[in-house]
Amino acid sequence: MTKNEIFVSAEELERQRGFIPRVRSLIGEEKKYCIQTFGCQQNEADSERLAGLCVVMGYCKTESLSEADLIIYNTCAIREHAELKALSKAGQLKKLKEAKRSLITAICGCMIEQEHRRTQLSKSYPYVDFVFGTDRHHALPEMVYTALTQKGAKAHVSSLPHNEFGIIAEGLPVVRESSYKAWVSIMYGCNNFCSYCVVPYVRGRERSRRSEDVLKEVENLVKMGYKDITLLGQNVNSYRGDYSFPELLDRAASFDGEYRVRFMTSHPKDASKELIDVMAANPRIAKHFHLPVQSGDNRILKLMNRGYTREEYLKKAYYIREKMPEAAISSDIICGFPTETEAEFDNTVDIVEKVGFDMLFTFVYSPRKGTVAAEMEGQVPHEVKTARFARLSAKENLIAEGINKQSVGKTFRVLSDGIVNPEDGIYSGRTTQNKIISFSLPEGFAPEKAAAGHFLDVKVDHAQAYALTGTALTKD
Ligand code: 5AD
Ligand code: SF4
Repeated sequence: MTKNEIFVSAEELERQRGFIPRVRSLIGEEKKYCIQTFGCQQNEADSERLAGLCVVMGYCKTESLSEADLIIYNTCAIREHAELKALSKAGQLKKLKEAKRSLITAICGCMIEQEHRRTQLSKSYPYVDFVFGTDRHHALPEMVYTALTQKGAKAHVSSLPHNEFGIIAEGLPVVRESSYKAWVSIMYGCNNFCSYCVVPYVRGRERSRRSEDVLKEVENLVKMGYKDITLLGQNVNSYRGDYSFPELLDRAASFDGEYRVRFMTSHPKDASKELIDVMAANPRIAKHFHLPVQSGDNRILKLMNRGYTREEYLKKAYYIREKMPEAAISSDIICGFPTETEAEFDNTVDIVEKVGFDMLFTFVYSPRKGTVAAEMEGQVPHEVKTARFARLSAKENLIAEGINKQSVGKTFRVLSDGIVNPEDGIYSGRTTQNKIISFSLPEGFAPEKAAAGHFLDVKVDHAQAYALTGTALTKD
């Protein structure tokens, strides 16, 4: 695929725009959309673009399924649990459709890129009007128009050959959930084929947005008052625009004003010293490194096709600690990968202790159809996987508590998420490390200065494994 082919053509975007007034005149006034999102931040970002298209088509937002005239479920396929949840939500559409015949229902996202799920949906969920894959968002106006004018479930997935699907549509309208936190996708897809992971099959090959498009979007967000901007990609280190990822990140964090730039997710095999140096040097880059290790055992890492050893991982983690002692490091771990022995899992527990992760996202291994690991002999029994999960979670609780206790008495710059408990005057916010902190205001502190989207200094009074508590400081 050449560079230009990964972008949706101007003609196609124009053709889609042509459906917008047609939908508008068909639906009339006061129709409502409801989008429910499952899974990762990439899906959340995609849903914000779908919401943008719904609004220009004339729909207003509702959170209530029974009030909605257009329902879209944006699904996840990373683990079986996520898919089962989406399917059970899909089942509930039947009643809603019976109650409102004119309701349009759609399912999109990663689950739809799997043929067996599409077959299942078209056979067993006839009340779903249309389904669409991860690179068809820009075609929503045409899909809604077709559903309004023709009967019968339709599937819209990539038209490109397998493993090449995935195109980028620039300039789509966006309705952001937050007025001060924003996702900015910089790349889509993944080429790594970790043996357990379905992402390369449901999101296609890596393709990057142009650096100038990304930077323009960030600059506009900063001008609009956004304070926390996350650059998103399955593996941001593989970003291939006009700039390298570290340079893009540095530039994204170089506009005027107080704001933070984060990024998700970084693959340990590609996380470079240059990236860590750029993070350390630029105060607008949040001091949080999410670096999924998945396992601490070299044989398992090899079977996972991760492309690094535990020693290489540790070297990078120690370099982060050396350059940015204040930074939080978080990680993902899979418990019970096929053939993993107790001794090999001990190596995972050991690496978790050695790095001392600030936060850990622990998962029970879930076989995914079509992946290499799902076909491996030596699948680990469910109760063994969950026992390992419980053991690691208990260990991480102690580690996180120990790290957080060291924060007591220290002051952090916090981006407020506003008041969460009005009776007790408790606010919540996030530190640059992405840790949640609840805080109260001292007497005389103007509440508007602690409203959502404001930065303020908070001194930590208490710490637990997953919670910091403090008091806002009045500036001298
Ligand atoms: N089973 C369990 N966890 C998985 N992840 C990805 N695929 C699987 C799977 N098949 C986890 C990885 C990844 C995170 C987003 O989800 O830890 O980093
Ligand atoms: Fe999945 Fe590995 Fe790609 Fe992450 S890097 S999305 S775990 S294949």
